Amino acid sequence: MIKPIVAGNWKMNGVSQSVTEINTLKANITENDQSNNCEILICPPATLITAFAHILSNSPIEIGGQTCHHAEKGAHTGDISAEMIKDCGAKYVITGHSERRMDHGEMDRDIALKTEAGWRAGLKVILCVGELLGERKADLTLKVIERQLKNSIPDGATAENLIIAYEPVWAIGTGLTPTTEDIAKVHDFIRKFLIENISAEEGKKIRILYGGSVKPANAKELMAVSNVNGALVGGASLKAEDFTGIIAAYQ
Ligand code: PGA
Repeated sequence: MIKPIVAGNWKMNGVSQSVTEINTLKANITENDQSNNCEILICPPATLITAFAHILSNSPIEIGGQTCHHAEKGAHTGDISAEMIKDCGAKYVITGHSERRMDHGEMDRDIALKTEAGWRAGLKVILCVGELLGERKADLTLKVIERQLKNSIPDGATAENLIIAYEPVWAIGTGLTPTTEDIAKVHDFIRKFLIENISAEEGKKIRILYGGSVKPANAKELMAVSNVNGALVGGASLKAEDFTGIIAAYQ
C-alpha cells in the first residue's frame, strides 16, 4: 500500500500574515482527522519555513523547501542550502520544478546535484518532470520524461527519499489538465521506468504525484488515475479551504 501525498507549493507567495491560512489549514486537518489516508505537505517560500514549521510542529502537516543550492555552504550570494532548509524545520525539498528550469536555466544535471544535496541533508526530495506544450504536440512527451528521469535521478534513490511529480508545463497555472487517459499513460510509464532503472522493490513504492491545475473540483478524478499517488498543488494550495478540499479526495 502506497500512502499518497498532497503537497502544496506556495511558490513566491506569502508574507508573515499568511500564518492565518496555515492556522486554518491546521485546524481543518485536525478537525476532520484528514491525516490518516494521505501525508500532507506545505512548501512555503524560504522566508516562511521557520514560522510555518513552528506552527505545525504538533500537527501531521510537514514542511518543505521549493529548491536548494547543491553545495552545503559557501560563497553563493542569495542561495540557500538543503542543510539550511532542514535546519528551519523542513523535511522535504522540491527539485526540478519547471519554473526553476525556465527562470533559472536549471538543467537535468543541476537537478541531480540538488537532489543529492537534499538527500545529504536528510531531506526527502520531490523531483519534478514534465513536457512543454510543443513537446506534447510533437508527441515527444514520453521521450522528454524519460530523458529527465534518466539524467536527474542520482544513484541511491529509494521510496523513502524520492517522490516524482509529473507536471505537464502547459497545465501549470492554466486551468488546463491532460485527460485522465493521458495522465495514466505518463504515470504508468514513470512507474515502469522506476522499476527498471532503480529496482523492482523501490520502484513499485516510489510515490508519483500529478501536478498542474489540481483543484477541489477535479482532485478526486485525478487522484483515482492509475499510478497517481497524490498531488503537487500550486495556486489552490494558497487558500486553506481549497487545499482542504483537495485533501478530501482521499477521505
Ligand atoms: P498549479 O501549479 O496547481 O497552480 O497549476 C502546480 C505546480 O506548479 O506545482
